[in-house]
Amino acid sequence: MSIISKDIQKAISLLTNEELVAIPTETVYGLAGNIFSEKAIKKIFETKKRPSFNPLIVHISSINDLTKVVSYLPEKAKILAQHFWPGSMTLVLPKKETIPDLITAGKSTVGVRVPNHPVALELLQKLSFPLAAPSANPFNSISPTKPEHVENYFKNDIKMVLDGGNCLKGIESTIIGFENEEPVIYRLGSLTIEEIQDVVGDVIVKNEKEENPDAPGMLKKHYSPKTKTVFTDNISDEIKKYLPKKIGILSFSDTFKTNDVVHEIILTDNFDMNIAASKLYSALHELDHLELDVIIAEKVPNIGLGKSINDRLKRASS
Ligand code: TXA
Ligand code: MG
Repeated sequence: MSIISKDIQKAISLLTNEELVAIPTETVYGLAGNIFSEKAIKKIFETKKRPSFNPLIVHISSINDLTKVVSYLPEKAKILAQHFWPGSMTLVLPKKETIPDLITAGKSTVGVRVPNHPVALELLQKLSFPLAAPSANPFNSISPTKPEHVENYFKNDIKMVLDGGNCLKGIESTIIGFENEEPVIYRLGSLTIEEIQDVVGDVIVKNEKEENPDAPGMLKKHYSPKTKTVFTDNISDEIKKYLPKKIGILSFSDTFKTNDVVHEIILTDNFDMNIAASKLYSALHELDHLELDVIIAEKVPNIGLGKSINDRLKRASS
């Protein structure tokens, strides 16, 4: 018999009883429920105050379960799944009839992924149903990358935050749909465009809602701190505009230094975008709790993960 940790055992029991559990993934924490429980899925939407037109991502334990969720698999979807799962990539594919409309917001497609986190995988392997899990934050707020972030948001609303430590990637999964069999990126994320293109060749990016009315979650304002946030490639100029107000700085190198700012968080000291991405949301959470007048966030070079970081900061500042 395998040894199951007490926490995973408790999560299994809650989820089986149609309750919600916040679960760790490598990207961000998710607010998880049984995809076949109407009660659980409704509670996800209520807890997050998420509009019902915004569909949920289904999490499965391995590529072998994909055929239980989707009815058709384009060739390039198969290649991507084999290459990147478990990992930070969600595929949007035609759904099986058995997938409830509540999950997909009435759409004929479903978003699905295999997360790359040992705790999430063990949990999914032990359950007899997949988990729907949007990021575990209220609608439009900063996504959680630590158990404390989820507790701060939902302490009174959910029975358990399954502790899996800090999320190593720190930015949500990259969402890929298919148009005429060809992959189209609907949301930039932890898996970079370059990594995807290395495997399937050129891909189209429709990361803005205007470009892609089919991705209901791509709101311009999203991932937002409560504090006013400014996104710039010239921190010094922005500081001059806001002084003597209370300013927080989110910078990507330690080349910028001043005593004028209330608080500065440097995300990486050697332009390592993996580290910067993993710390991005926790830095925003931290700055947002300092009662600042403004957070000034620095643009990063727009390549690789830098594109996803800039995307999130742009939305945070909208
Ligand atoms: O990394 C992640 O993807 C995290 C972790 C927990 O897995 N989850 C996550 O879920 O970010 P959420 O609900 O915060 O974002 C899911 C996005 C939404 O923008 C939603 O509109 C889009 O996925 N989505 C889901 N199903 C879709 C579908 N059938 N067609 C188009 N977009 C879809
Ligand atoms: Mg989200």
